[in-house]
Order: sequence, then C-alpha cells, then structure tokens
Amino acid sequence: MAAERRLTLITGASSGLGSALAPLLAADGDTVLLAARRGDALVSLAKRITEAGRGRAIPLTLDVSDHDAVMRTLAAVEAEHGPIDCLVANAGVGDSLPARAFTTASVRRVFDTNVFGVTSCLEAVLPGMIARGSGHIVGISSLAGYRGLPGSSSYAASKAALTVLLESLRIELKTCGVDVTTICPGFVKTEMTAKNKHPMPFLMELDDAAHEMHAAIRNRVTHCAFPWQLATLVRAGRVLPDVLYDRMLAKQRATRTTDG
Ligand SMILES: NC(=O)c1ccc[n+]([C@@H]2O[C@H](COP(=O)([O-])OP(=O)(O)OC[C@H]3O[C@@H](n4cnc5c(N)ncnc54)[C@H](OP(=O)(O)O)[C@@H]3O)[C@@H](O)[C@H]2O)c1
Repeated sequence: MAAERRLTLITGASSGLGSALAPLLAADGDTVLLAARRGDALVSLAKRITEAGRGRAIPLTLDVSDHDAVMRTLAAVEAEHGPIDCLVANAGVGDSLPARAFTTASVRRVFDTNVFGVTSCLEAVLPGMIARGSGHIVGISSLAGYRGLPGSSSYAASKAALTVLLESLRIELKTCGVDVTTICPGFVKTEMTAKNKHPMPFLMELDDAAHEMHAAIRNRVTHCAFPWQLATLVRAGRVLPDVLYDRMLAKQRATRTTDG
C-alpha cells in the first residue's frame, strides 16, 4: 500500500524562501498547500511543481493577517483535503522603522503578519494535531530576533516574539506528539532583502537557504540557525554586555534601513 501523503501548509509561498522550499517538500511526497496573497504566483508555482512531476501542489489565496479568513479557509481546506500534518509558518514582512518615525501602527502592521499571522494558523491547526497526537509546526523566524537591531525594532521584536512563542509551545507539546521546529535564517537573497542598503554579511543564495530549511524540517530539529558564520556571531552577541554590543552595532545605526 502506498504511504499516505503528508499535507503540508506553507504560508508565504508566492516568493522567496516559501516558493523555493515548496518544491523540495513536494518532491518528498508531501501534498503542499501554497498560501499567500498573490494568487497568480501561487497558481504558476503549483503548475510548475505538478508539471515537473515533483508532487502535488494546491494554491490557496490567503492573507494570514486576517484572522477570520485564516480560520475559515483552513477549516474548509481540512474538510476537503483532510488534516494538515505540517504547518510551515513562513509568511513575513520586513520593515525599516527609524526611531523618529516610530508609531504603534507601524509595529502593529509587522506583528499582524509576523506574529499574529502565525498564531492564527496555529489556532486553526493545533487543536487537530493535539487531538490526533501527531503534527509538525515549523516557524520561520530570524537571526534578527536574537538581539535588538537599530532601525529594525518592529521586525526584530516580531521575530524575537515568534522564537520565544514557538519555544514555549515546543516544550509544552513534547508530550502531545507534536514537534516544533524554529528556523532562523541570516540574510538570504529574496524580495525582502533586495531593497536593503545596509551590509548583509554572509548573504546566502536562495536555493542554499531552502535546502538548509528542508533538512531541518525533514530531521525535525528543534532549532536551526544559518549560515553558521552569522549564527555564531549573533549567538556570541547575545552574551556581550550592552556597552560592547552597542559599540559593535554603532556603525550599522546609520546604514540600516530594512532587514532580513
Ligand atoms: N530573506 C531573508 O534574509 C530572511 C532572513 C530571515 C528570515 N526571513 C523570513 O523568511 C520568511 C520569508 O521571507 P522571504 O525572505 O522569502 O521574503 P519574500 O520573498 O518577501 O516572501 C515573503 C512571503 O510572505 C508572504 N506574505 C507577506 N505578507 C503576507 C500575508 N499577510 N498573508 C500571506 N502571505 C504573506 C508574501 O506573499 P504575498 O505578498 O503574495 O502575500 C511572500 O510569499 C519571512 O518570515 C522572513 O521574515 C527572511
């Protein structure tokens, strides 16, 4: 008897990391649900995956910042295709927020996608996973969430929140048969980083990053941070006293406008 296909939802699949990861998961045998707001990009990616014989892909136009739409859409998807076995919460927006332009509204806009977009998807799929005693939650956070970054307070804070949220759930869900994987990329060449003017050390090619993510998902690791060079620097930065950390970031203060 053929093994049952895993149903995997990938948010933010219309470009960048999500669109590069989807064919890899489909080639493994997963049926991939491709979610984002740009439906045309999803349809052509689904077509490419299917026509290349790389598996089954279903486009799903969805704004993850719309809580009701997420709940409604994912309930309908599960009713039609069966339970979602794996959620790859990848949809995210970058932001540059200089202190002089700081507003609650601009922070909320980033959190609406990067944090609440993830929590809405979790709310929709987690009860089923817990009831079935199996499932896999994957969150795409960022090395930017390890410590504060000038010009990037909203984005860095959203990723810090996501990392800690996922870690809390991971520990709690251990006895429920639901695994949680947090992935923290450094800088990767995508639409999000294309507009960055500040230096992006150890900038990675998209395919290399997608393969790192794919391996982490397949091996169900708890936490994956890459590239190792930047991950090591950022980890070291975490234990630096403020006076040294501030000095290290002083140069970036002037140049940072957007973030990966
Ligand atoms: N590139 C990097 O250097 C880097 C580093 C660390 C972490 N990350 C994280 O990796 C993830 C993917 O980013 P990327 O670099 O691949 O950027 P990207 O090419 O801009 O992709 C972002 C994706 O998120 C989707 N998205 C944004 N808002 C959405 C919403 N409200 N509802 C549904 N989908 C939405 C976009 O699709 P639509 O516009 O079609 O909705 C797009 O598919 C993000 O969470 C990002 O924070 C990226």
